[in-house]
Amino acid sequence: MPHSPAAIVSAMHEELRALLPLLDDRHTVRLAGRDFHHGVIHGQPVVLALSGIGKVAAATTAVLLMHAFDSRQLVFTGVAGGLAAGVNVGDVVVARQLLQHDMDASPLFPRFEVPLTGRARFDADTDLADALAAATRSCSGVRLHQGLIVSGDRFIASAADSDVLRALLPDALAVEMEGAAVAQACADFGRPFAVVRTISDRADDAAHLDFVRFIDEVASATTRAIIEEWLAHV
Ligand code: ADE
Repeated sequence: MPHSPAAIVSAMHEELRALLPLLDDRHTVRLAGRDFHHGVIHGQPVVLALSGIGKVAAATTAVLLMHAFDSRQLVFTGVAGGLAAGVNVGDVVVARQLLQHDMDASPLFPRFEVPLTGRARFDADTDLADALAAATRSCSGVRLHQGLIVSGDRFIASAADSDVLRALLPDALAVEMEGAAVAQACADFGRPFAVVRTISDRADDAAHLDFVRFIDEVASATTRAIIEEWLAHV
């Protein structure tokens, strides 16, 4: 392969299914129970993969993409629950920073800090996040937010739980279950990454119902439009 590929990682089957038809010269390699689909989209070498859900599954997938497939950069797509006021179902959030909201080794380390790294927040790559934000803006009718996304191994499905997150992390725009794990793995490898999420629910008492309805109806179409637009302009 002439260039190492850009990795596009989906959290959900629906999204991968929407992206696969874009892939030319496709061949699939199976490793660690996952399928890695190599090919070309708009002339760009890419590898598409499904991460599975949660921080460990996401970090494992990211490490395989960087170490076994030499991915030069990694984009994580999926859905998230809206936390900040005005971050509503159907909006898109491009992460500028990521944090694990369930990381707590206090009092040994400050709450949220990843032990022995000295930090709680991991920055997304500026150029990659800029490019995904531009791609999102050119998808008409989609409202874009940029800032902090928080991740943890918990689906937030009550107003009480999302109130707690808002109180602890007032600048968090959205919550999901993988992004900050990918951020930490990519930081270890020194590889650029970005996270783009479509809001499927408000992380409130109706979150589980909204989530299921949304992934069937909208999420994969939005992801496909953003990724296609991004790769057409790389
Ligand atoms: N992904 C989508 N919605 C979510 C929520 N409410 N909590 C965690 N992850 C999510």
